[in-house]
Amino acid sequence: MPKEEGMARGRPGSARVTFIFPRDPRRALSPLSSPSVTVPAPRGDAALTSATAWYDSPLYYDMVYADYTPAETRFITGICRRHAGTGSRPLRVLEPACGSGRLLESLSRRGHVVHGFDLNRNQVAFARARLRRKGLKGKVWIDSMDRFRLPAGRPYDVAHCFVSTFKYLTSEAAAKRALRLMAAAVRPGGLVLLGLHLTDYRDRREGYERWIGRRGGLKVISHTWSFLPDRRRRIEGMKTRMKIVRGGDVRVEDTVWDFRTYSPTELRRLIAQAPDLELVACHDFHYDLGSTRSIDLSYSDIVVVLRRREPTAGRRQR
Ligand SMILES: C[S@@+](CC[C@H](N)C(=O)[O-])C[C@H]1O[C@@H](n2cnc3c(N)ncnc32)[C@H](O)[C@@H]1O
Repeated sequence: MPKEEGMARGRPGSARVTFIFPRDPRRALSPLSSPSVTVPAPRGDAALTSATAWYDSPLYYDMVYADYTPAETRFITGICRRHAGTGSRPLRVLEPACGSGRLLESLSRRGHVVHGFDLNRNQVAFARARLRRKGLKGKVWIDSMDRFRLPAGRPYDVAHCFVSTFKYLTSEAAAKRALRLMAAAVRPGGLVLLGLHLTDYRDRREGYERWIGRRGGLKVISHTWSFLPDRRRRIEGMKTRMKIVRGGDVRVEDTVWDFRTYSPTELRRLIAQAPDLELVACHDFHYDLGSTRSIDLSYSDIVVVLRRREPTAGRRQR
């Protein structure tokens, strides 16, 4: 078992990111971190609390994550050129748990064929409407990451699942099923991209991040806490408090949910559950093609690039 060291949480730098709260302040000056500030976990529940509020309001979610979109879009197309031999032709892209459809829109605008699904009907409606409004093509439907069915057609060049979304699958069986379904959805030589935050079980500090999004007269401030992980159950409690400010009006919505945790060893074990996939590279949430990393605890965020193996004689593809 590899040595697991303390690590910093990291996310892409952006004008809108006010600060990021590294789990290990000693690493606050690591390339992925901003200066750390101690903020207490939320007390009391003055806000409306639910398990889905964050996603029931797709516009607010979309505003908070919008800064990621250009870098992720460039990453998806660039990594396919590098590892899937796609050149500059249009890609066939699948996004399980596509949320508000920000990446569907961005990729469709560049001529790629985009298909996505999500469990939340508000997100699906929002994603469909945004494609329709912009005159873009794309298929969006309601489905679940661990049980999804695909429309008829050729397999995909790439299936991607970023920003820790895969961690919503809280059991090993569901995670394994989902990864195998993603592997089966792409062509031999195609890619499965997973982006998530790794967990350092020895770190006894809670994580905190704050993001601000602005659109027109609307401002959304999102605070996200990750509570101490339960190593045996592989669960970490999460909470997001969204403060929505329009003119003098302020509304607060809380979302609480559980994530499945992954240490580097647990992530490697997950990848091994899909023998049709081979690990070809790891990057981080800077989505910089020029910068690779390993599956270790040097810092928290990781994007693993998995490629579907070509069928060989005597080895059946699932
Ligand atoms: C962090 S958002 C990511 C959305 C999108 N992939 C993006 O990068 O903007 C997580 C999404 O996962 C969806 N979700 C959670 N569990 C799911 C599941 N089991 N199957 C499908 N979607 C799920 C939520 O409804 C939400 O829209």
